[in-house]
Amino acid sequence: MDRLNKSARLMIVSDLDHTMVDHHDPENLSLLRFNALWEAYYRHDSLLVFSTGRSPTLYKELRKEKPMLTPDITIMSVGTEITYGTSMVPDEGWVEVLNKKWDRNIVTEETSKFPELKLQAETEQRPHKVSFYVQKDKAQEVMKELSEKFVKRGLDVKIIYSGGMDLDMLPQGAGKGQALAYLHKKFKAEGKLPQNTLVCGDSGNDAELFTIPEVHGVMVSNAQEELLQWHAENAKNNPKVIHATERCAAGIIQAIGHFNLGPSKSPRDVMDSSDSVPENFEPGHDIVRFFLFLERWRRAEMEYSELYLAGLKALSFPSSVFVHPSGIEQSILDCTNALRRSYGDKQGKQYRVWVDQVTTTEIGSNIWLLKFNKWEISGDERRGCVATVLLSSEDLSPSEGFTWVHMHQTWLDGAGAKDHTDWVC
Ligand code: GLC
Ligand code: MG
Repeated sequence: MDRLNKSARLMIVSDLDHTMVDHHDPENLSLLRFNALWEAYYRHDSLLVFSTGRSPTLYKELRKEKPMLTPDITIMSVGTEITYGTSMVPDEGWVEVLNKKWDRNIVTEETSKFPELKLQAETEQRPHKVSFYVQKDKAQEVMKELSEKFVKRGLDVKIIYSGGMDLDMLPQGAGKGQALAYLHKKFKAEGKLPQNTLVCGDSGNDAELFTIPEVHGVMVSNAQEELLQWHAENAKNNPKVIHATERCAAGIIQAIGHFNLGPSKSPRDVMDSSDSVPENFEPGHDIVRFFLFLERWRRAEMEYSELYLAGLKALSFPSSVFVHPSGIEQSILDCTNALRRSYGDKQGKQYRVWVDQVTTTEIGSNIWLLKFNKWEISGDERRGCVATVLLSSEDLSPSEGFTWVHMHQTWLDGAGAKDHTDWVC
């Protein structure tokens, strides 16, 4: 919440399954495109919020499976749990709001009378969420009967059907939309209401997100029938909500462009890095661009040329030091030699690189300190390091980029490479 000292330029509030994350894309390309766009142009002044139906347990599993960024705020269990930052500090105020008019025991008692309802896994039963599976053809009937039962028991329960199979019961004041409204209210009280908010979703539990005043919204192309139907009945004439023609994260990028919310060309969509220089040149962009080069170089998706290596050398000081995560110090010469040897070594293999949580600070005139996590997937192995980099922007010519003064990497806990030599830089 306190990471930015002024209003976020853009706050993206996105669902995960089948919205940010495409489970039908084993290469995760649209997610990686989004990641590069976010870290290059948005991380420093914008907020990323993930809003998922998953419990903390299943959310953490997804993070291990997919190359996801770390959000600033995580909303889980269909808007019933809000946490902040990397360490996921819970919002106790939200818990108090939800405790009002909620009696979990009555909900479980009433639902147990419906044989059509099949209880979901134990991990998905949360203090303010009771979840079942129900067949599509039974859903409407069951929902109607249940809500009548709850009214009779004096309980205000929100019943949400998602993905053509999941039935969630929450306090009436909960849900993804209410959680976002609560965040907006908090930001407003601090004078930091985001300049723009973009909400992104694909299924029933996302519908509420589109009802929050002032927000832009995107239903990804692969949105579920129940969301499209809700839209047709409730938000058809709202020009601030679009149904993208692109799937998942590609649909989010499409919406950023459609609503003119900021840069919408991912560095991953630019092959020749010299024509990708934006007007407001960001050091974060340089980091993204460099590691994208590394990926393409090792996958041999670009032609081999000594010119690239000479260019890199020209962008460093002769005395620059690069500390490899194994602790070994490398000169720029060592680094370029390692790069030369690694050309094409991942050709035709599963190999992707992405950076997360790039923070940039101008610590002196023309000197920038950057810190970020750098991740690689290589075959079945996923490894990561925390990196700090010193960049100089003296004599900056945007087509060349910043000068690399120093880089220091350290393996992230439990995420070191098995073979240190396979981590080039
Ligand atoms: C996620 C949750 C599940 C919930 C569904 C729809 O899949 O794990 O409990 O029912 O989202 O909100
Ligand atoms: Mg979804």
